[in-house]
Order: sequence, then structure tokens, then C-alpha cells
Amino acid sequence: MSASGSGFFVAFEGVEGSGKSTQVASLVRWLEARGHDVVAVREPGGTELGERMRNLLLDQHGPAIAPWAELCAYMAARAQLVAQVIAPALAAGRLVVADRFGEASVAYQGGGRGLGTQQVGELYRWVTGGLLPSRVYLLDLDPEHGLARAAQRTAGRLDRLESEPLSFHRRVRESYLRQAEDEPRRFLVLDAERSSEDLAQAIRLDLESLFTGGTSGIAGS
Ligand code: TMP
Repeated sequence: MSASGSGFFVAFEGVEGSGKSTQVASLVRWLEARGHDVVAVREPGGTELGERMRNLLLDQHGPAIAPWAELCAYMAARAQLVAQVIAPALAAGRLVVADRFGEASVAYQGGGRGLGTQQVGELYRWVTGGLLPSRVYLLDLDPEHGLARAAQRTAGRLDRLESEPLSFHRRVRESYLRQAEDEPRRFLVLDAERSSEDLAQAIRLDLESLFTGGTSGIAGS
């Protein structure tokens, strides 16, 4: 299913304010309570290099970043995260849960910035050596609502990406949905307007069915 060794790799995606981080935390708690060996990561970030790049990339008052430079910076942070954390974890049979991965580059830089989703998708696969999440939970939401949620959460102090116009975030959403349409076996699209408990339950059921379907290498654990 993926070039992921014997572990299992899932990622969460969505527009700003879609509730990904809540779902990641909830899923990690649930998996750990069931005895799984879980590694949770976020993108950009998860390594010292990645966290420093995250600060640069999200800083509203930081240096100008041209679209291709932005893409390459996200990809560099990702390459480091794969080499340092994700690939070793999967090789050790661990379960990796990511708060965003390359699908975000396709949506934000490929779609939002207009760099081209196909080209960005190819670069993504190249940079990770073909390692992709086996399951992507796409929390789908109208970006207008998501941005309002994000503004509330940050008391109006939006970061560099959150401050992009609504039209940018609409292209991001469309690009995510198109990826899900193109790869229905890898993506599960969930309506992020549902309650967080309801969403958590749907995600657990899906993951359980993937495990018992024997695709994970950790079936029955
Ligand atoms: P988040 O932690 O709120 O998801 O912040 C990450 C931000 O970076 C979010 O605005 C999406 C953006 N992003 C990209 O533009 N490209 C990428 O490849 C990734 C991973 C994130």
C-alpha cells in the first residue's frame, strides 16, 4: 500500500480551522490506550530543522518568501522529517500519525499558489522516496467558516498562510477535494462540521477496519 516498511502511516489534512489537531490528539490517545506504539508528528516541524523552518514559514512578519521558495522549504522540512523520524519509525513497526503531510503541499502550493498540482505531487513523491500516508483523513470545511474558527482561536493573530485571502483558501479546499476524488482508496473525506466526538468515532471505526483488513502489518494488535 505504501513504501512504509512494516508500520502504518496516517495523516490528517484540511483547510485552516478544520479541527485536525483535535482529531490527531484524540486518535493518538485512543491508539495508545489500546497499546499501539504511536509516533505523532506535525508538518512543517517534527525535527529541529523543521521546527525552525516552521517559524520562518508561518511568521507573518518574517522575510518575503516566493512561491517556489515556499514549496521547497516545505519539501525540505518534509525530507528531514522522513529521514529522521518517519522512515525509522515505520521500519520499527510503529504507527505514525501526521498533522499534515505532502498532500498539503499539493493543496496549498500546487492549488492555492497555483504552482500546479501535478508538478507538486511529483516533487512530493520524489522527495519522500515514494513514502505516502496509507490513509489520509480529509476534514472538509467551508474555508470561510474555518478561517473564522482560526481567528477566534488565535484572537485574530493569524499567521502568514492564514492571512491569505479567502480565494486562496477556496483553491486549497478544491485541490484537497480533487486529490480525494483521484485517490478514493487512500483518502477518507469527513464533514468537519460534525461534532468532534462524532468525527473521532468515524476515524476510529475506519482505522479499525483497515487494521482488521490486514493492510497494516499490525492487525490484531
Ligand atoms: P498548521 O499547523 O496550522 O496546519 O499550519 C501549517 C500551515 O502551513 C498551514 O497554513 C498549511 C501550511 N502548509 C503549506 O502551505 N504547505 C505544506 O506543505 C504544509 C505541510 C503546510
